[in-house]
Amino acid sequence: MKNYFSSQVLRKIVAVSVLAMPVTVAVAQTKSGDTKMDSFVSGLMTKMTLDEKIGQLNLVTSGRALTGSVVNKGVEESIKKGNIGGIFGVYGTDYISKAQDLAVKNSRLHIPLIFGLDVIHGHRTIFPIPLGMSATWDMGLIERSAKIAASEATGEGINWVFSPMVDIARDPRWGRISEGSGEDPYLGSQIAKAMVKGYQGTSMKNSDAVMACVKHFALYGGAEAGREYNTVDMSLIKMYQDYLPPYKAAVDAGAGSFMSSFNTINGVPATANQWLLTDVLRKQWGFKGFVVSDYTAVSELTAHGLGDLQTVSALALKAGLDMDMVAEGFLTTLKKSLKEGKVTQQEIDLACRRVLEAKYKLGLFDNPYKSINADVESKTELTETNRLAARETAEHSFVLLKNQGQILPLKKSGNIALIGPLADNHSEMLGTWVIAGDPNKSVSVIDGIKKVVGSNANILYARGSNFTDDSLLNARAWFFGMKQIRDTRPAQEMIDEAVETAKKADVVVAVVGESANMTGESASRSDINIPETQRDLLKALFKTGKPIVLVLFNGRPLTLTWENEHANAILDVWAPGTEAGNAVADVLFGNYNPAGKITATFPKNVGQVPIYYNHKNTGRPFDDKGPAKFKSDYIDVSNAPLFPFGYGLSYTTFNYSDVKLSKASLKGNETLTATVTVSNTGKLAGEEVVQLYVSDPVASISRSVKELKNFKKIMLQPGEQKEVSFNISTQDLKFYNTRLNYDWEPGQFIVEIGTNSSDVHSASVQWEK
Ligand code: NOJ
Repeated sequence: MKNYFSSQVLRKIVAVSVLAMPVTVAVAQTKSGDTKMDSFVSGLMTKMTLDEKIGQLNLVTSGRALTGSVVNKGVEESIKKGNIGGIFGVYGTDYISKAQDLAVKNSRLHIPLIFGLDVIHGHRTIFPIPLGMSATWDMGLIERSAKIAASEATGEGINWVFSPMVDIARDPRWGRISEGSGEDPYLGSQIAKAMVKGYQGTSMKNSDAVMACVKHFALYGGAEAGREYNTVDMSLIKMYQDYLPPYKAAVDAGAGSFMSSFNTINGVPATANQWLLTDVLRKQWGFKGFVVSDYTAVSELTAHGLGDLQTVSALALKAGLDMDMVAEGFLTTLKKSLKEGKVTQQEIDLACRRVLEAKYKLGLFDNPYKSINADVESKTELTETNRLAARETAEHSFVLLKNQGQILPLKKSGNIALIGPLADNHSEMLGTWVIAGDPNKSVSVIDGIKKVVGSNANILYARGSNFTDDSLLNARAWFFGMKQIRDTRPAQEMIDEAVETAKKADVVVAVVGESANMTGESASRSDINIPETQRDLLKALFKTGKPIVLVLFNGRPLTLTWENEHANAILDVWAPGTEAGNAVADVLFGNYNPAGKITATFPKNVGQVPIYYNHKNTGRPFDDKGPAKFKSDYIDVSNAPLFPFGYGLSYTTFNYSDVKLSKASLKGNETLTATVTVSNTGKLAGEEVVQLYVSDPVASISRSVKELKNFKKIMLQPGEQKEVSFNISTQDLKFYNTRLNYDWEPGQFIVEIGTNSSDVHSASVQWEK
């Protein structure tokens, strides 16, 4: 009772600040606007017992693909009893059709199950990890990857995917930065929309479409100190301006479901946060789908300090949570809570209705087996076309961080030494969050390179080192069923062999970085260097004096200051997916000219974290003109990052003209056009992501120094030049003020266009109301 009361109090407090928000939809509606669906669901619900209604709110995992440490028991019997609304973590026509049979043929009301899975960056054909995918800045490629994932997953009976993850992250210590699109709300919003479109298609009833589940609502990426599952405490302005836009964009794109996050938000855990799940998501944004908790997040409310399982289950339902993942808090306590007056029949009905509506929208009542199709399963998976799409996406995701003396692209001749723990490896190519991807079907870097160079060059190989010899890191990163294939030789022996190999080569390609297990969920790191063992290997290789190209695998920005000083080139390939080796080879040897741009700032050292381009100026801004007292800076490192947001090189060079504005001053809702001419001044054709930033130097609150507002990816032949124009409207000038009104204020604005967030050309404009 005590906790329920405190939540009421909190609701009142939050309501004060929320009152000022523009409310797009007045109330959470029980009627969807689809009369056919409403009457079908209402009709079905009149037949349902209380137990059956509560059963729909129960999502279980039966342990085929484990994604957490608790597994539900007695799943078969529960399905028959109508105690389960959906199952996740399973795939394959065989298993899914049997489970659906149990629900449809053996439960009283024959209500089909919904089948969910963590299809994060591909199902069978694995695409680059999301952070890599975001570096393509290519919405077409991103949407297509989701569409392919949906078509492969639906063939196996999956109708619901736990993706996209749209959490903004500014702290690379957080392992799950790998699963999102980086630090920027505008880019993150575009990607959220593209993913939802790719998954859901034109109708979720289509047999190759799935329902998206947008996660993790909300602000999971704002965890203090980058530590997994940690507290989030954030001002409302920062939330609305920088962290919430991608979730909102996903709602606008029609996402069918949301997943609540593990973290607290200003003291209230997201999973029991009525302000978040009802006021913001439904009333302000007009979301009409259903909300599922994250894995055991309902029972974890107890550890958050909100009370026993019965109390927290009631709190979560009342807050607006519709489905309970794994915890079985809803299943085991809601009936009792109803009797005791702690929840209402209406609250249970509303949640049940939303889950049934999702099944209806997916067409499961028309055909519960609609996408369970062994024929499709075998024909749509890992096809040559899907592989080509994965290869193309991977190539576009790579970011060239350094290319001294134009050492890249490499010539397909001479002796090339491939060295490093990731050079001859299949499983690590796939990255984090791969459930159905088969490592044996992935292309290793060495295989890809051998295929691309053929007999023109001689490929030498030495493993050089294990991932790490740090016993703590080894113990923590490789468990929960994860195996590391370790070379049992002493570290020095491996290094010696690598040095001998390097000495015979004209160029060394060192394939190093993070293992997939060092990234993703439950993989926060306090040190974001390449592990020491691999750095020892690199030190020895640098000493040979041979030109060294680093091919870097990583699920987060790493601190590469030392590597950047010593290596001749660095190509960041994240974790590229099934076609890894082919894509790496294409880029190393110039079959494709890289154009990826980083979407999360790379710090110089971990002490600069959190670091992001759209920061505030402070009252004592740092200007990088040398040491100065009383500035907002550090005395041991400059404020500048190693690589800024939006940064990435090409094998060619681009020149930007000054920015031309269509007008020097504007009024009201006029539109401004900003134009630059971009020229390819090098010798190769290449793509460039032209980025538009706007800054608002004087306002009623202190604004970010700049904000990304648009971008265009263009292709230029050598010597070619193109005019690139952006239309800017007052929509691009708006921000959340202290009353949380989303509006713009008249005055001066600086328009910046450039190749990354730091390297821009700018022009000033006056804009009056
Ligand atoms: C926990 C993770 O936070 C979430 O991203 C995932 O979808 C669920 N487990 C289900 O596996």
